[in-house]
Amino acid sequence: MSKHDDHFLNTFSIVIGTLVVVTLFLIALARSIGDPFEAAKIAADKAMNQQVASRTAPVGAVAVAGNDNSALAIKSDDGAMPTALALPKDGEATYKAVCSACHAAGIAGAPKVGDKAAWAPRIAQGKATLYTHALNGYQGKAGVMPAKGARPDLPDSLVKETVDYIVKLNQ
Ligand code: HEC
Repeated sequence: MSKHDDHFLNTFSIVIGTLVVVTLFLIALARSIGDPFEAAKIAADKAMNQQVASRTAPVGAVAVAGNDNSALAIKSDDGAMPTALALPKDGEATYKAVCSACHAAGIAGAPKVGDKAAWAPRIAQGKATLYTHALNGYQGKAGVMPAKGARPDLPDSLVKETVDYIVKLNQ
């Protein structure tokens, strides 16, 4: 090797060595400044922790029998629990909430409440038949009476009470 090369290698090693030392110093400096403060700040940041928890939460959840699964209940967008359609309290309320949609104005061939002539032959069939037709649905000449007025959640007793109420209005 020539003297010139020696000189180059020495200078080059010193430059590299100095840069390595500077790099290590900067890493140590950054850690000593950042670590204690930043870590504490992040740990104390509630919103940040919540976001991390929600982003890293598992996609699905499994309801386990015997455990409290109330947190798994499906919630609507505004956070309120979905409520089942409220059950009307008696025959009159059921008529107003459900049956009147068709029977008040005579929609879709439904015999109009108050039209005694339309109801007379139906009432003449006897209550048992009216109950059955209201509970199970019924396709007659005028149209289709949906089972329970398309409210399958209504208890049978309430539907019968409602039939009684309608019959009373048309006698
Ligand atoms: C979607 C419309 C609709 C709703 C809602 C509805 N009905 Fe009807 N209902 C009809 C129609 C149409 C008929 C007539 C069917 C025919 O005779 O062709 C009928 C007929 C009846 C009859 C007479 C059945 C017979 O044997 O002649 C009764 C009783 C009755 N409905 C009770 C109810 C009750 C009780 C409710 C509420 C729980 C209700 N309906 C809700 C459409 C409806």
